[in-house]
Amino acid sequence: MIFDEYSIKSLVRPIPDFPKAGVTFRDITPLYQSPRAMRMVADSLIQRYVESPITHIAAIDARGFLLGSVLAYELNKPLILVRKAGKLPADVISETYSSEYGDCVVEMHRDALKGGEQVLLLDDLIATGGTFLAAARLVKQLGGNVYEAGAIIDLPDLGGSRKMQDADIPTYTLCAFE
Ligand code: PRP
Ligand code: HPA
Repeated sequence: MIFDEYSIKSLVRPIPDFPKAGVTFRDITPLYQSPRAMRMVADSLIQRYVESPITHIAAIDARGFLLGSVLAYELNKPLILVRKAGKLPADVISETYSSEYGDCVVEMHRDALKGGEQVLLLDDLIATGGTFLAAARLVKQLGGNVYEAGAIIDLPDLGGSRKMQDADIPTYTLCAFE
């Protein structure tokens, strides 16, 4: 199936003033509800990474999990969960970050990586980049390398993808909303 950016973008719904006044929330639930669009998204990402040296996929709580499981299955790679604080049951490492909405903490199981892995980070969207940058720090804490951070959407006006490039974390997104 040929990737059609226009139809992907048409399934991302702008919700004004959510979750707080002044924020236009890009809602991807219509996209996830379209099997054709989801197939296009998954196929594009699979095509990008199928020949890559990635050894692991780390998916970000919660919407990143939906992409992570499809890609881990298709690419036959181990799936690591980057979760919001307090959700992972075994020994964890943590990183704090600031988002558009306040301070947050993400965690990863301490035994998720042993060192030397090439990790693909996956999420639905890059806004301020805080979540991806914190996830990248988790991977680095355990001795892994972030091969790339992949997402469906970039919101470049919020500066996240630029900040990630400045931190030497390559990004790849399928579309952007200016
Ligand atoms: C959203 C989104 C990304 C992150 C992007 O998740 O799914 O994970 O924010 O923002 P950033 O680039 O400014 O860090 P959210 O924290 O709302 O959690 P959810 O997936 O559980 O809804
Ligand atoms: N949409 C979805 N998730 C988000 C957004 C957004 O606009 N900003 C930060 N996380």
